[in-house]
Amino acid sequence: MTSDADAEYDLVLIGMGIRGVAHLTLEAIGFLNRCRQGYVVGLSQEEVDGFVRMLHETLAGAANIPPLESLGRAYQLDRNRALNYRDAARIILDALGRGVPVAYLTPGNPMIFDSVSQLLLEEASLQGYRVRIASGISSLDTILVDLQVEMAPGMQVYDASWAVAGHARLDTRFACLLLQSSVLLTRWPTVDKPARQMAIDTLKHYLLHFYPGDHQLALVRSGYRWLDCATILWQPIDELGGELFEDYLGCSIWLPPLHQIELNSALP
Ligand SMILES: C[S@@+](CC[C@H](N)C(=O)[O-])C[C@H]1O[C@@H](n2cnc3c(N)ncnc32)[C@H](O)[C@@H]1O
Repeated sequence: MTSDADAEYDLVLIGMGIRGVAHLTLEAIGFLNRCRQGYVVGLSQEEVDGFVRMLHETLAGAANIPPLESLGRAYQLDRNRALNYRDAARIILDALGRGVPVAYLTPGNPMIFDSVSQLLLEEASLQGYRVRIASGISSLDTILVDLQVEMAPGMQVYDASWAVAGHARLDTRFACLLLQSSVLLTRWPTVDKPARQMAIDTLKHYLLHFYPGDHQLALVRSGYRWLDCATILWQPIDELGGELFEDYLGCSIWLPPLHQIELNSALP
């Protein structure tokens, strides 16, 4: 392991937020500026280059950002997606061996549904690297903002597949947010339409254990650029799926509470 005595970290996990450059925090840019190399998940190299151009056009403070490389080569469509995460983490661990500090840039917040961050935290720490994390604006934040709903009195957040396969008991007094609906009940990075429809039917069946069929849920996709509007589709659970769902791939599913809880009457 090579180590720079002046650096306070060897690896930094950086949350890029959802809306491109507009969501990158000053903390993230500060961390990035001290790295010798960065690796970006979720964007092709062309998109990464566009992101870097935009950073330079927007921010004088971005002058020192290091070369950024897409992790696209780790992401293959024809295998279990856990293998893609493993290969992405391996690329970064190998880079650490060539010199530090190194940055891993990921959409949203690195601590929210990000398997590569988890692998890096475990493995880099085991290998004695010092790891820091820069939190980013998550889709959890943008979804609440787009729906203009307050998180109080609380909400349930699940990976949609884990909720269904793990038989999570939903509490209908609290809102519920289901993520990763486009890889519902599959280990693969993508699935074809018929398989997705079968998975959606299973999700619908599961939700009907807790909610009536006419309970409205929202398919929400927050905008990916500054000033982009969100796309939000409200529909009853009974009608979940079909062609409309295909238009909302990559979305999250929001279920408002069925009953409001009356905290005032429960408190002394
Ligand atoms: C692998 S997780 C990564 C989440 C990310 N770390 C975060 O903090 O938002 C990807 C899931 O986040 C949700 N997501 C990401 N971007 C979104 C967006 N623009 N609108 C709605 N949901 C989004 C979707 O449920 C998607 O399947």
